[in-house]
Amino acid sequence: MPMHVAVFSTKSYDHEFLARCNAGAHVLEFREERLSEATASLARGADAICAFVNDDLGRGVIEVLHDAGVRLVALRSAGFNNVDLEAAAAAGIAVARVPAYSPHAVAEHTMALVLTLNRKTHRAYNRLREGNFALDGLLGFDLRGKTVGVVGTGLIGTALVRILRGFGCEVVATDPVRSPECLALGVEYLPLRELLSRSHIVSLHCPLTPETHHLIDDAAIASMRHGAMLVNTSRGGVIDTRAVIRGLKGGRLGSLGLDVYEEEEQLFFEDRSTRYIPDDVFARLLTFPNVLVTGHQGFFTEEALTAIAETTIANVTAFEQTGSPLHPVPSSAGRAR
Ligand code: NAI
Repeated sequence: MPMHVAVFSTKSYDHEFLARCNAGAHVLEFREERLSEATASLARGADAICAFVNDDLGRGVIEVLHDAGVRLVALRSAGFNNVDLEAAAAAGIAVARVPAYSPHAVAEHTMALVLTLNRKTHRAYNRLREGNFALDGLLGFDLRGKTVGVVGTGLIGTALVRILRGFGCEVVATDPVRSPECLALGVEYLPLRELLSRSHIVSLHCPLTPETHHLIDDAAIASMRHGAMLVNTSRGGVIDTRAVIRGLKGGRLGSLGLDVYEEEEQLFFEDRSTRYIPDDVFARLLTFPNVLVTGHQGFFTEEALTAIAETTIANVTAFEQTGSPLHPVPSSAGRAR
């Protein structure tokens, strides 16, 4: 019996990649709606739902999904901070994820942010188009020989370390688990505060958990090198955005690159160009010339979307055939924020 899957937060690219990998194996019902308590009942009659990073899978939604007959939540993401795992376990709903699709996609996007912020190509592009060929204000620095602090040396952090070593950077890292590959690449593991005080650039690649929520706060920023660059392509909540704005205003932070934002579910993945930005904190961020924000596009490569679709369909097929998905998220992974 093919599984009936309600796919939430669908964009044209999700439809295209999932339908191609599914090849008729399951019944996929594509919905544009973001999953929330208001939309969860749309899953009625489905065996499984498929969700993305900003879909709400808190206790309230899980209860509605349970009543609707859903038995599997198949996440199209690696992170599962948006799922109440205890509630899912209590409701007998299995949760699956895509543990690794392309760490290179996110690591390479991180490097794009670093290079753009450093050499100000975003500003140069606009200047040139207006006939302004002056170089004032575009001064960067050589990456070779600079110290980069990588917070979290899992799949993405390690992929970034490889790239950074190619640029001739010194790399220091912090992670409760040391990566043998990073150690072999000459990475020195340090406590977070020491990493912050040594690094010219700090890049965040840890998951969002209660422990890492607002890891970068006022105190952390105060311990950074004056004028350091901070890049976050992990999850928005790892950074206290208001503290970062204070750091930018005081000059402690030299530049900031973000692919994720604490309140991004109100903004990202939609065309809002004909409306105003209702989030004043986000709007303030956009006023800084040394801040570069992309809208959670680190994962957005051909290879990553293919891998996400293949693993998602494999999770659903395994659940259909064996009663458990290929890549389950254990309920013991705890309630993350
Ligand atoms: P991973 O699970 O391979 O690595 C995470 C690493 O962080 C692990 O080595 C873990 O030990 C470490 N860690 C946990 N707590 C820490 C702490 N307090 N301090 C330092 N390190 C800590 O995960 P992966 O695949 O490398 O992804 C990292 C994060 O990137 C994901 O959790 C997700 O939030 C984010 N992500 C963002 C994407 C984007 O499009 N911008 C796409 C995919 C993932």
